[in-house]
Amino acid sequence: MSASDGSTVSRRVILQSGVLATVGLTVGGLALGQDKSLPLITKAIPSSKERLPVVGIGTNAFGVSDPAEVAARRDVLKRLPELGGSVVDTAQAYGTSESVIGAQVAEIGNRSKLFLATKTPLAGDVANAEEVIERSFKNLRTDKIDLMQIHNVYGVDALLPALLEQKKAGRIRYVGITTSVDNQYPQLVEAMKKHPFDFVQVDYSIENRSAEAEVLPLAASKGMGVLINVPFGGRRGGNLFGKVKGRELPKWAAEADITSWAQFFLKYVVSHPAVTAAIPGTTKVSHLEDNQRAARGRLPDAAMRKRMEDFWVGNAT
Ligand SMILES: NC(=O)c1ccc[n+]([C@@H]2O[C@H](COP(=O)([O-])OP(=O)(O)OC[C@H]3O[C@@H](n4cnc5c(N)ncnc54)[C@H](OP(=O)(O)O)[C@@H]3O)[C@@H](O)[C@H]2O)c1
Repeated sequence: MSASDGSTVSRRVILQSGVLATVGLTVGGLALGQDKSLPLITKAIPSSKERLPVVGIGTNAFGVSDPAEVAARRDVLKRLPELGGSVVDTAQAYGTSESVIGAQVAEIGNRSKLFLATKTPLAGDVANAEEVIERSFKNLRTDKIDLMQIHNVYGVDALLPALLEQKKAGRIRYVGITTSVDNQYPQLVEAMKKHPFDFVQVDYSIENRSAEAEVLPLAASKGMGVLINVPFGGRRGGNLFGKVKGRELPKWAAEADITSWAQFFLKYVVSHPAVTAAIPGTTKVSHLEDNQRAARGRLPDAAMRKRMEDFWVGNAT
């Protein structure tokens, strides 16, 4: 397990699941109110070695118009990089989420501190790929998109040539592909085997570990970065928080600097050696602050990951 209590640690090699994983620990981006004794955990994007903080945000609930709701989303977007985070995941399919993010980020003026990831449409005509892609630039009010992903494996053949063209032109920095359902894994895996994606985005949590069988090992062997969606089991009823209501964290969780259930769930996910970052959805600064703490301090090693899994299925206390 990695450990650090000082501001001088910049990089550390830890042993996870029998695989040597390099985890960068930096102390940038600290803001008032953040525990400065715990260094930020970053992981490298395999195709470029650029490092990303291991916890970002998902924004499928950012398509709002009520001024109070927009202001709340704006607070989250402002606070994220102040806490050391950078990855913001959105999609053309999330209502007006892209436009809300574009407008708020322009107003806040923190575009350069964010890693903006979006997605091509989930349905409809994508034959005019250039036009489809251009919508995201316009909505996000940016001349560079950090990561553009093919949403739910939809329209790979129509979209990928144009995405790779835009990457070559330097307007899109990374290209990826996503799913969040098991029955799309066969198509996802086929596309990953065939095409040079920088990233794959997939569902994974302590309760939903099907990605471990093929998707995560394939991503590691192909040198693809991995973003994890729905790390809490989604925003509808039945998510992981409902399952731990009234339950105390196991005492040993403190050995990985875990102080809440959200951090327990996130540290489990981002300590998988193939995972680059998780994108928990949140619309509240209080939840953001909790989640960003999962990007600091020690990560569970292979033994603690096993203990977390056993605990989750009731085999441990
Ligand atoms: N196919 C795809 O490509 C795909 C599919 C699904 C999702 N995604 C991406 O993945 C992101 C994450 O998925 P998701 O948002 O659906 O589900 P999620 O991250 O598993 O869970 C989000 C839910 O957890 C709550 N929450 C967040 N932080 C919390 C905390 N610290 N304590 C208690 N509750 C907390 C949120 O409530 P509050 O809003 O109140 O904070 C929300 O109800 C999406 O936003 C989207 O960007 C991609």
